Amino acid sequence: MTHFRFQGPRRIIAVMVAAAMSLAMTGCQESGSTASDEILIGHFASLTGSEATFGQSTDNGIKLAVDEINEAGGIHGKKVRLVTLDDKGDAREAGTAVTRLVTKDGVVAVLGEVASKLSLAGAPICQENGVPMISPSSTNPKVTKVGDMIFRVCFIDPFQGAVCARFARESDRIKATKAAILTDQASPYSVGLQEEFEKAFTAMGGTIVSKQTYNAGDQDFSAQLTAIRGADPEVVFVPGYYTDVGNIAIQARTLGLTKPLLGGDGWDSVKLGEIAGANINGCFYSNHYSHEDPNPKVQDFIRKYAERHKQTPDGLAALGYDAARILFEAMQRTPNVDGKSLAAELSKTSGFEGVTGKISIDAERNAVKSAVILEMKDGNPTYVSTIQPGE
Ligand code: PHE
Repeated sequence: MTHFRFQGPRRIIAVMVAAAMSLAMTGCQESGSTASDEILIGHFASLTGSEATFGQSTDNGIKLAVDEINEAGGIHGKKVRLVTLDDKGDAREAGTAVTRLVTKDGVVAVLGEVASKLSLAGAPICQENGVPMISPSSTNPKVTKVGDMIFRVCFIDPFQGAVCARFARESDRIKATKAAILTDQASPYSVGLQEEFEKAFTAMGGTIVSKQTYNAGDQDFSAQLTAIRGADPEVVFVPGYYTDVGNIAIQARTLGLTKPLLGGDGWDSVKLGEIAGANINGCFYSNHYSHEDPNPKVQDFIRKYAERHKQTPDGLAALGYDAARILFEAMQRTPNVDGKSLAAELSKTSGFEGVTGKISIDAERNAVKSAVILEMKDGNPTYVSTIQPGE
């Protein structure tokens, strides 16, 4: 370097070296843990694919929470910066995204995923790297069993399955003694929720008259629906995601199957009504939140979210918002945002007043909360009832 005369081609090389060095330094500053004025958090989400609204809504909810904390001065005087990576709803992509967030970007915590299958793909990577992960909405029990770095802010499927079974069995709208089930056989969420529903429904004296399966993305459900029609159930439990459920509803009605379909939180998307149209009317699902809840906390969130994102938030948006706020609150309680300290603080979350209800993290790092039943009316989920845990 000392022999550079800054002439001709050598000068160009010197400029290039300097430019490369400054680029490298910018790179350093942008990687979370080394920047002194920012706290970097990651989000892995299905921003594209057949569950795209799951990731988009969750990200919008998180962004609102990030804006609010930064407007209020940040955390320990530092701004929070969110890095969101699209996993396209694919388990391998989810693993790649989480690896990048924790090893390359250096995030201090990870938010995600919605789909239990994708949370199960990301969780071992967070656990191994000692980075806390909070799933806003994965309900399969296995997710938090991955280890002590893995949390969630939603209820789990043994509860959700029982809620659905009780509604099927006892609500005046259904009062079923015979139920059929149509499960996405490669989805841990769908399989797990189906098992819990069956257990609870039969324990309440009901009978499962037909059990059918499909694979996510299937286009033709006529064989399964014909078999179900033949078994003459009073309700059909479909614990799948909204794109498949929309197609199933259309084909069920076409085949003359008129009994209500019933599902879980995987139905939660504006797309469900758009895909199925009137075919989904009079069908029910359990969820984490209703936009019709008059609670001022809920209505205040809806107003702020609509201002920022020009739409009514679904349950995913509300859970993303709550997950981010619980993370920020834990960060504020500890001067150290290293993985161990953060996980310790997250475990202490108790009585947090969320949009999706009061959130306390139990010893298994799950949240114990109420669920709501919604009915599809003219393409919109409308509030039916609330079920408390332990009821
Ligand atoms: N609970 C679902 C799962 O575990 C994900 C989901 C949550 C979907 C909430 C929609 C709304 O896979």
